[in-house]
Amino acid sequence: KYPMKKFLITGGAGFIGSHVVRRFVNTYPEYEIVNLDKLTYAGNLANLKDVEDKPNYRFVKADITDAAEMNALFEAEDFDAVIHLAAESHVDRSIADPTAFVMTNVIGTVNLLNAARAYWKGKYDSKRFYHVSTDEVYGALGETGMFTETTAYDPHSPYSASKASSDHFVRSYHDTYGLDVVISNCSNNYGSHHFPEKLIPLAINNIKNNQPVPVYGKGENVRDWLWVEDHARAIDVIFHKAKTGETYNIGGHNEWKNIDLINLLCRIMDEKLGRPAGTSAQLITYVTDRAGHDLRYAIDSTKLQQKLDWVPSLQFEEGLAKTVDWFLENEEWLKDVTSGNYQAYYDTQY
Ligand code: NAD
Ligand code: DAU
Repeated sequence: KYPMKKFLITGGAGFIGSHVVRRFVNTYPEYEIVNLDKLTYAGNLANLKDVEDKPNYRFVKADITDAAEMNALFEAEDFDAVIHLAAESHVDRSIADPTAFVMTNVIGTVNLLNAARAYWKGKYDSKRFYHVSTDEVYGALGETGMFTETTAYDPHSPYSASKASSDHFVRSYHDTYGLDVVISNCSNNYGSHHFPEKLIPLAINNIKNNQPVPVYGKGENVRDWLWVEDHARAIDVIFHKAKTGETYNIGGHNEWKNIDLINLLCRIMDEKLGRPAGTSAQLITYVTDRAGHDLRYAIDSTKLQQKLDWVPSLQFEEGLAKTVDWFLENEEWLKDVTSGNYQAYYDTQY
């Protein structure tokens, strides 16, 4: 089956996708990487400035909800593999407008599966469809327990419902048509190029600008944070080593209550900005809770650690400090993505 040559990576201009593209372009010069992205508000080619001139990289602007466009692309290009990340990814936006999530996350995924099914016919043994998914499909945990690969699906938000649906479709194409598929479900990522609608980059941006840092409810919800480059490395390992039809959970074994995380971030920001200790924490503002807010996520990644020898590389405090450095050093990037429609969105939320 290996080496595969031509990869379609969808959503490569987004946060995690750009790290996956960068990793594959740099690690595998023998692979041809085609990055397909619609460039929604979350897609940004500036995320890939350092690889755009590499000979094994190409960008295609396209929309996965357009079935004819996907079919034409698969007909024109003999892809060996798909790594599918394109999605509407923000829970709060899904609460405001679920339909966009059904269109991209469900219909878009089915369009890609249909194109793979049709144009890879007779060659399934030499092709692979890798679907990147989330731990949110498993629902919410109480104070104890962890999500394993066999935890029953129980999504609560329109976002997680759409991702759960897409996971089911991907598995069904394996079980029904014999397509070679692999799925991974990952916990919350953080790191460079993270769009500032999500908690960590939003808080960094607001602290930097002396704006309130909104904490939903009592700040007691728990998330399991993983450095985005560790996620990209996990995708690389799973893509190359998983058996067909397998699922892997990816997580940092790194649970934080939101309020504890924000307090840690405030301490780091005070230090980096040379402000007296306690200055940034004064910006913390408790706001109305997210509707249907899942209490706690925690991933058991034992299978990935034991079978494929993957472990997270970066300790959280170090990763967070590195992330803050990146945002402070990339002021132009931050200004660009928070200009235009960003403020209008922000005003509807807070
Ligand atoms: P993101 O919102 O930063 O990026 C999504 C990308 O998809 C953007 O570049 C956007 O332009 C593109 N896109 C959206 N709709 C499209 C369409 N119709 N056609 C083509 N491209 C389209 O998202 P992210 O945080 O990088 O997440 C990437 C994937 O990883 C998603 O599938 C998400 O569900 C999954 N995931 C995210 C996290 C996380 O913590 N962010 C954790 C686990 C899994
Ligand atoms: O678990 C994986 C998921 O993590 C991914 O599938 C999603 O694509 C990704 O967006 C992320 O979802 P969350 O909802 O957990 O991430 P977010 O950064 O939006 O919120 C993290 C926590 O912080 C959550 O409990 C809600 C809270 N929050 C969020 C924002 C934006 C706040 O308290 N204040 C905020 O302003």
